[in-house]
Amino acid sequence: MKRFALCLSLCLALVGYRSALAQNDPSNEALPALVQVLGQSDDPQFQLDILKGMSDGLKGRRGVKMPAGWEEAATKLAKSSNPQIRELTQSLSLTFGSASALASLRQTLVDPKALFPARTNALDALLQSRDPALAAPLRELLGDAKLRGTSLRALAAYDDPKTPGAILNVYSSLSPVEKKDALTTLVSRQVFARNLLGAIAEKKVPAKDLSADLVRQLRNLKDNDINQQVGKVWGVSRDTEADKLKEIAAFKNLVQTKGYGDPRSGRGVFSRTCQQCHTLFDTGGKVGPDITGSNRADLDYILQNVIDPNAIIPNDYRTSTLETKDDRVITGIVTRQDDNAVTIVIPNDTLVIARPDIKSLTQGEISMMPEGLLQALSQNEVRDLLSYLKSPQQVPMPPEAAK
Ligand code: HEC
Repeated sequence: MKRFALCLSLCLALVGYRSALAQNDPSNEALPALVQVLGQSDDPQFQLDILKGMSDGLKGRRGVKMPAGWEEAATKLAKSSNPQIRELTQSLSLTFGSASALASLRQTLVDPKALFPARTNALDALLQSRDPALAAPLRELLGDAKLRGTSLRALAAYDDPKTPGAILNVYSSLSPVEKKDALTTLVSRQVFARNLLGAIAEKKVPAKDLSADLVRQLRNLKDNDINQQVGKVWGVSRDTEADKLKEIAAFKNLVQTKGYGDPRSGRGVFSRTCQQCHTLFDTGGKVGPDITGSNRADLDYILQNVIDPNAIIPNDYRTSTLETKDDRVITGIVTRQDDNAVTIVIPNDTLVIARPDIKSLTQGEISMMPEGLLQALSQNEVRDLLSYLKSPQQVPMPPEAAK
């Protein structure tokens, strides 16, 4: 009977909460009502349902007024034996601007003895609440093999001039995937990009590490100096239709005269050039379509799509450029947007950016798939890649990349 009454009040509270969210009015009575139900329940499953509902509804929001009764409910829930309940409670405390929750999360984040999932959850929560004191602990984590990738990605959110130097210092010791994370962050802001281009000019970072999608992101920063330097290291490539037809014919001729290359080396090329966006044989990113089932053994199909990706672009894959108020420029695919936040998928991350932080958001007419991908490769690398792409099944990693 007690349980029934509780369920009933939960339903009413949830309905109120949903409509309050729809009207963009979280200060309404619905949230305190949910918190009250939460405080009364001792059923972990039930607590979890409410916490999940609250947290889904508030995703991407900050500075939501702390509902009456939250501190008491949170103190009780923090002692729960269910780790998911403890984590959701903590992250909601952050959404409600609790300073003690921030401090305790930062402690968990840099504590090498804390459990790994607890540390990554702490990081997610700190990022979402835009903890202004986070850049320094993130730089500290560049020395932590387990959290290095995450911190490389997260550092992009902070307009901190110490960041590019710290990343470039560790760059040469990073794994290929971490290098991609490092570069993606370094091309996300004008100040970072200048440092990166300096390091490329001094040959501390090889120019060939700058793949076509990163070059495009650099151009999106719309800075004349940066464009000039990019032109110097990368050449300006604005291909016309005729150029593309010629390029397709040339690669076709290459395969017909010299044959396909080695699929294993091709897998290495794929992992550097395509895998951040495409899944093939269950491995890879989700920015572009999974190409396992595509027509990939057909040379014309592959060359056409890789050399001229803008010929046909399904609407779901149009590139958007989002600029934040603190000057981060993000190039990606918008998968969700509402009055509170925009979700944008980039090759190495999925970002939820709160509306108040957005300066501009424009949808472009071009594909997220960059042009000029093959121009950065040698002829042998292209033959290897094409050989891997037509392989009916997965092949082992090439020895040099399999570390
Ligand atoms: C930055 C992300 C990105 C990278 C890097 C990238 N692609 Fe794509 N690719 C996409 C997107 C997005 C689409 C879908 C839109 C379109 O067709 O233009 C796509 C489409 C394709 C298609 C057509 C798929 C279909 O459903 O018909 C093929 C084939 C393809 N890519 C191959 C490649 C290969 C090979 C590479 C590496 C040489 C590569 N891509 C690198 C994002 C990427």
